[in-house]
Amino acid sequence: MTNFSPSREFAKQLDQQDSLASYREQFIINDPDLIYLDGNSLGRLPKSVIERMKKVVEEEWGTDLIRGWNKGWWESPSRIGEKIATLLGAREEQVVVGDQTSINLFKLVTAALTFQPQKKRIITDTFNFPSDLYILQGIVRLLGNRHEIIRIGAQDDDITPDLAALENAITEDTALVTLSHVTFKSGYLYDMAHVTELAHCKGALILWDLSHSVGAVPIELDKYDVDFAIGCTYKYLNGGPGAPAFLYVNKAIQNDVTSPIWGWWGQNNPFAFNLDYQPAPGIQRFLAGTAPMLSTLAMEEALTPLLDVGMDALRAKSILMTDYASFLTDHLLAPLGFSLGSPRDSAERGSHISIRHKEGYRINRAMIEEMNVIPDFREPDNIRLGFAPLYISFADIWEGFDRIRKVMEEERYEKYPKQRLVVT
Ligand SMILES: Cc1ncc(COP(=O)(O)O)c(C=O)c1O
Repeated sequence: MTNFSPSREFAKQLDQQDSLASYREQFIINDPDLIYLDGNSLGRLPKSVIERMKKVVEEEWGTDLIRGWNKGWWESPSRIGEKIATLLGAREEQVVVGDQTSINLFKLVTAALTFQPQKKRIITDTFNFPSDLYILQGIVRLLGNRHEIIRIGAQDDDITPDLAALENAITEDTALVTLSHVTFKSGYLYDMAHVTELAHCKGALILWDLSHSVGAVPIELDKYDVDFAIGCTYKYLNGGPGAPAFLYVNKAIQNDVTSPIWGWWGQNNPFAFNLDYQPAPGIQRFLAGTAPMLSTLAMEEALTPLLDVGMDALRAKSILMTDYASFLTDHLLAPLGFSLGSPRDSAERGSHISIRHKEGYRINRAMIEEMNVIPDFREPDNIRLGFAPLYISFADIWEGFDRIRKVMEEERYEKYPKQRLVVT
């Protein structure tokens, strides 16, 4: 780990050495004073998306009209899937984009459970994003309450899942292990190779939710022979609010599993308009209905800077940023009652950290309302700080921490009610 210093000058030095610093100019930054630490929830807008959208709306929709489907729209879920595949360590014809993360999870979990119907266990953890747990619960009910969902808890610290319990829970009766690769609160990063191996040893399938890791950490789906993966594109991929999600199905099992949603985009030869469903061969069968072209093409454009930089350089800067933020937490904020809510070892961490304080909710509100800093809050006491390597500077990080310090020293959070707003 670098020998950090808590001075503002040191942050400037880190910026001078940052080989990705110039990428910030490729993003819309309307308010230079805003410290935006929520790119792990909604990434910033790349400038080139504006031009692309203008063209899509005026020329492709406005002039081409229905002809647009034969000029690149129809293939876009697969074409963009191939681009995202390069971030996932996946060879061609295994990734498509479309629908939401929650819906893709529904499709793939149902496919996995019906593939081995005699197996009853589904292993997940309490660190998983709640929508994932709800989707699992809904599927279990839909399939006649024959499955048992086992949620692995935390080690003592609430930062790291109980890995020994995870290993013990995966038995021969396990149909599926499904986890978030990087967990949404503490940012814990699972060892994908190890956990995938644990699942496969017992004949279980594995599904990784990559929402918090795609574009933030290198991923090797093919190398570890992962079965399924899903993830969203509006966080580190900067695809825009509600941008379509992606899904991955390992080529080896694609034709043995089916989507529970038999839509015409997953049909073999959809324009034959046959009255009976025949799944398309390969990954195509996991599409459902008409892709939302405006958001799909905006997201495609947004990938450009990320694909240009590549995951190794992104990860190197991300680790430096989260190491630096952990250092500032210890030096500037620990004396004010904060503790680090994320792993200290960067090998076990994604690109966000949580800082914990019993007044976390009110501090987070004061940051947003008065200090022009945007983190987000996750119950019960986590202020999440996301570090998107393409557009965050080290000076931003220093400034963000300094403003948190001011909120505490001036007790600015005390005027806010403890009652939560709808979106935190
Ligand atoms: C890890 C994870 N999984 C799933 C989801 C749900 O995604 P969506 O709302 O796009 O279905 C989210 C949303 O933030 C998430 O963070």
